Amino acid sequence: MELIIVKDYAALSQRAANLIQAQLTWNPQSVLGLATGSTPVGMYDALVKMYQDKAIDFSQVTTFNLDEYLGLGQDNPQSYYAFMHEHLFKHINVNKEKIHIPNGLSEDIQSECLAYEKSIQLHGGIDLQVLGIGHNGHIGFNEPNVEFEAKTHVVSLDQETIEANKRFFDSIEDVPKKAISMGIKTIMKSKRIVLLASGEGKADIIAKLVKDEISPNVPASVLHLHENVVIIVDEAAASKL
Ligand code: PGA
Repeated sequence: MELIIVKDYAALSQRAANLIQAQLTWNPQSVLGLATGSTPVGMYDALVKMYQDKAIDFSQVTTFNLDEYLGLGQDNPQSYYAFMHEHLFKHINVNKEKIHIPNGLSEDIQSECLAYEKSIQLHGGIDLQVLGIGHNGHIGFNEPNVEFEAKTHVVSLDQETIEANKRFFDSIEDVPKKAISMGIKTIMKSKRIVLLASGEGKADIIAKLVKDEISPNVPASVLHLHENVVIIVDEAAASKL
């Protein structure tokens, strides 16, 4: 696990965007695993800027997002599909047919999960997976007491996650209680993983992740078992290390 501490959120965002740029320079057909949440927004802004400056090309890239709320369709502004469109996809030259986000409205959720997992494999697996981290240590929507062997599956959101995500909704009642998420096993099969954390609010969980033993209580701790993980944190998130 490589730990990179940078000054602030702007530096973190740029550093993460640089990693993606390097990946696409090395292999323009890369398969990227993408994340939602507040943390990667600055990285997406930096990538859009690079695209506008003609410093990066997404035309051959394939993307797979980590998760989607169950019950929200693509045109729901709170869906992760809408989030990705708003923050990244509509601004760059990614081929829309190469974008993959679980379908939260699927009528056969089990088949949707299996098909998503299979599609990742058929594309040769994820080359570079971007992750945020929840205050409870979740990655994707893999909540504490996670099953490390799980592939893409339906998850029930922790109350803490529902609380944390209510800021994106009109009221807490509107936050979906379930989601489709890549499982830990899916994430661990990625060839390279970059986890981002910013701000004092993430300092406790980053300290726990870096210092504590691997435990299903802290889903991100499984990353200690992966051979190619970069953690980029700003000084505030690193303040309890
Ligand atoms: P955040 O969420 O980036 O909005 O803090 C991270 C996560 O829950 O994975």
